[in-house]
Amino acid sequence: MTIILGLESSCDETAAALVTAEGKILAHRLATQEDAHRPYGGVVPEIAARAHVEALAPLVEAALADAELTLGDVDVIAATAGPGLIGGVMVGLVTGKALAHAAGKPLVAVNHLEGHALSPRLADPSLQFPYLLLLVSGGHCQLLHVRGPGDYARLATTIDDAAGEAFDKTAKLLGLGFPGGPAVEKAAAKGNPRAVPLPRPLLGTDDPHFSFAGLKSAVMRAAQSGQYNSEDIAASFQQAVVDCLIDRTRRALKASPGITALVVAGGVAANQAVRGALTALAGEFDLPFVAPPLWLCTDNAAMIAWAGAERYAAGLVDDLSIPARPRWPLDPDAEKARGAGVKA
Ligand code: KG4
Ligand code: ZN
Repeated sequence: MTIILGLESSCDETAAALVTAEGKILAHRLATQEDAHRPYGGVVPEIAARAHVEALAPLVEAALADAELTLGDVDVIAATAGPGLIGGVMVGLVTGKALAHAAGKPLVAVNHLEGHALSPRLADPSLQFPYLLLLVSGGHCQLLHVRGPGDYARLATTIDDAAGEAFDKTAKLLGLGFPGGPAVEKAAAKGNPRAVPLPRPLLGTDDPHFSFAGLKSAVMRAAQSGQYNSEDIAASFQQAVVDCLIDRTRRALKASPGITALVVAGGVAANQAVRGALTALAGEFDLPFVAPPLWLCTDNAAMIAWAGAERYAAGLVDDLSIPARPRWPLDPDAEKARGAGVKA
């Protein structure tokens, strides 16, 4: 039995997990930094990096204790090496390198986005390559063909904000608290999704990409107008995001012959309205819809361990000299989206 230790520290969750090559989760531990960042209404990189230093080693020990294992029983060390807040990424990667060196075990440097991208296969072992993935997180909004570990073709990305970022900014604007996504979803449940007229950027266009900046500005104007309550704004905003995600994903599905499934991953995949609409969309194309359970959608180390398992099985191991990378696209050959900023 091959056992992989996974480490995650790229944003505001510190996590350690033990997973087997067969996809059995032996232990997963997570410490969230939400309380530390809440007073600032967003993640403060310096606070995050320091908190990862304090939390990571005890989490590794706790995960090993949960699984009744020692470091010597671990076969592979997998650590997030980017993209993300560089201070945090360095904490996890250097810890992974130190453990790999001390235990004499191979290191797999994992792209955090690949962790999200392959997590549906940990949740559903019957899911086969290639699949169409909608990756929607705080930093990314992309449609990708997932062909295998390390083998991605990007069909679309956001030309401005990520979907999760739009949720977070809307929550801040409406004073709903931090983290924003779950707060907006909760408020939206009490509102009318048709109450506030909001734009759906790029909807129905030939352009394959996403855009949420105009929607965010419209939410700000609606909030400042004093005409609407925050529940109705939250519900109308969430509906606009869902409509954009579905329209762009439908376009990608039409251009994706031969895929086995429609798959969603990343923190925004925890949203029930998003999941419901994608389930219906997959039905339109007679495709299975696969979404990881909620805890596996948001950042965690089980998905990093699993991506490490898939890469190790494919013979992809790394040198201890591998650098931490603040930016690291899954498809380095993808054309830059028109109007896009520097985000990966
Ligand atoms: O994947 P993730 O945990 O971290 C990144 O790699 O970015 O995603 C976090 C993002 C945040 O923007 C958060 O607001 C959003 O996912 N999110 C949600 C929900 N839960 C988390 N967005 C909408 N509805 C949710 N229930
Ligand atoms: Zn993430």
